[in-house]
Amino acid sequence: MTSSPPENELPGMAHAGLLEYWYAVCRSAALRRKPKALMLFGTPIVVFRNQAGLAMTLADRCPHRNAPLSAGTVRKNGNLQCAYHGWEFCGNGTCAHIPGRLGTIPAKWGHVVHYVTEERHGLVWVYASADAEPARSLASLVTEPPEGRYVHVLRELQVEAPLLPTLENALDVPHTAFLHRGLFRGAQPHRITATVTRYPDRVVTEYTGEPRPTGLIAKLLSPSGGLVEHSDRFILPSVAEVEYKIGTENHFLVTAYCTPVDEQRTQMFARVAYRTRALGWLIRPLLEAAAMRIFRQDAAMLKLQSDNQHQFGGEHYLNTELDLMGPHIRRLLKEAETHLELSAVVAARKVEFDA
Ligand code: FES
Ligand SMILES: [Fe+2]
Repeated sequence: MTSSPPENELPGMAHAGLLEYWYAVCRSAALRRKPKALMLFGTPIVVFRNQAGLAMTLADRCPHRNAPLSAGTVRKNGNLQCAYHGWEFCGNGTCAHIPGRLGTIPAKWGHVVHYVTEERHGLVWVYASADAEPARSLASLVTEPPEGRYVHVLRELQVEAPLLPTLENALDVPHTAFLHRGLFRGAQPHRITATVTRYPDRVVTEYTGEPRPTGLIAKLLSPSGGLVEHSDRFILPSVAEVEYKIGTENHFLVTAYCTPVDEQRTQMFARVAYRTRALGWLIRPLLEAAAMRIFRQDAAMLKLQSDNQHQFGGEHYLNTELDLMGPHIRRLLKEAETHLELSAVVAARKVEFDA
């Protein structure tokens, strides 16, 4: 027996609860006069700027004959005009004008689904529930970039893998010594103690006892070595954050906002802020080249993993105590997806391992 999908569920996606969150969809600088065709949870959306320069989001389908609104243009009055018969829509989805038609436009005609949109820290954010007021503020999700003498970098990348493995990969330590050998961690493993703490909306792992790793990136960040303070955070439903403090002067913070494009693709917006004893901008080209290499290795592995799961008809994971974050991320996403009460339990666990 099949039950009808919950209201608000998008075709083919079983993520009702996950729609009640904000997702980064594009960089602010990339959204200019031309409307942008994007995809969120498998649904085509169009993002555009109205006459005041505010970012607006509609479903990318004209209600008249279903032409993509992203093929249209933004008029001087800020309306998005369909390229086919010229119908015009405001940012809230109301049809404002039908060329050639006399009289007022009945309200039941021509309403396009709209999504509440905001901009923050150089990114355009969309609340993924159609025609709904946000249940939570964007500020509760987005961490503030550190202030002061930092180098800031924002990069956008697409991964051919679903949200969960992408988030897990971003926060998985044991693979760094193997898949990225020499780039961050070196050949000599160190004993590390990790403390995993689970909160209602996040999971945080703190690593202690780690000397500065011997790989290239760690050497660039802190040539003189030093003790490492390292923490990894997952914040529901889409944020993976990695923070390193090496010695007293070197600080490295990567915040990856992961947006489900559809069931098989995840768009990642990585915001990097770092401060080093050396002049930060001087090492930037080397640091970026190494970071891009790491990313390409991750993206290639995520695609292989994803393709293989398809061939075997689904995933079948075996977790050990070294898989610190994945099971928590899965559980938190599941709870959010199915509207389970987010468990208020705060639980901590200690694990020792070599990496
Ligand atoms: S399809 Fe958009 S105006 Fe006709
Ligand atoms: Fe990786």
